[in-house]
Amino acid sequence: MIYAAGVDVGSTQTKAVVMDGSRAIVARSLIQTGAMVVKAAERSFVEALASVGLAREKVKYVVGTGYGRYKVNFGDAQITEISCHARGAHFMFPGTRTVIDIGGQDTKAIRVGASGEVVDFAMNDKCAAGTGRFLTASAEVLDLPLEKIGALSLEGKDPVRLSTVCTVFVESDIMSYLSQGRMPPDILAGVHRAIAARTMSLLQRIGMEAEYSMTGGVARNIGMVNALEEKLKAPLNVSSESHFMGAIGAALFAIERAEAASHEHAQAHLGGWTDGSGEGQ
Ligand SMILES: Nc1ncnc2c1ncn2[C@@H]1O[C@H](COP(=O)(O)OP(=O)(O)OP(=O)(O)O)[C@@H](O)[C@H]1O
Ligand SMILES: [Mg+2]
Repeated sequence: MIYAAGVDVGSTQTKAVVMDGSRAIVARSLIQTGAMVVKAAERSFVEALASVGLAREKVKYVVGTGYGRYKVNFGDAQITEISCHARGAHFMFPGTRTVIDIGGQDTKAIRVGASGEVVDFAMNDKCAAGTGRFLTASAEVLDLPLEKIGALSLEGKDPVRLSTVCTVFVESDIMSYLSQGRMPPDILAGVHRAIAARTMSLLQRIGMEAEYSMTGGVARNIGMVNALEEKLKAPLNVSSESHFMGAIGAALFAIERAEAASHEHAQAHLGGWTDGSGEGQ
């Protein structure tokens, strides 16, 4: 069996996926990227391999993606996360025409063609406003675990209005609502709604077309999925693989290239033999 891998070195978390020739995911890992980006890339790959006891030499091709894709120094190629998220989302949900990737530091809206190719995309500017970072900061101010804030936001009956989704102001904005006696569910409903509104403006820049698929770590947040569906007035494809979608897309590119290389290798051998026998006749 042939194996290949995708390593998505995100600004916040690094994801590795090992795939086999049948396009089945055989191993994965998820770690914090931290400051040592080269080490994070290496460790995520090694951990994924170790989880199934697969030898490194068995993996014939590795594609690096994400903001730290050039830090995957054992990688055979680098492909942008725009292409990889599009490819991964189309693989999981073939009807996908629009991808919303909300990661730790970036939000990307990607228009996808019928074969999973990128037609157009837009992303937030350098500032992390309205991304996973804003949700992490909101959870911290409210002293709640990140994993809980999405579900809690669904209990909010009277969402607060946030003037901005800028991470710089999140603390003072939330503190001021708390001092007015507003409860965390209403504050969180406002937070999720504000991020969804910001995401919609990004989507409008590329033109919106169903089906919509969400990728990136924020897809784990049920409150965010709900808030986006409300604005979209359409369902959002989400799966337990959404967080790994960039790495899955990278692994798909990698397996394709590994197969092409082994095919070329076989052809070269066959060609050499044919030529040789031809000469003797
Ligand atoms: N279990 C969870 N519940 C809720 N949110 C989560 C969970 N795990 C991760 N997240 C969110 O996902 C974010 C990380 O997502 P992801 O791994 O896609 O980002 P990244 O690829 O590192 O960043 P970027 O694409 O912006 O460079 C975190 O900042 C956090 O907000
Ligand atoms: Mg990412």
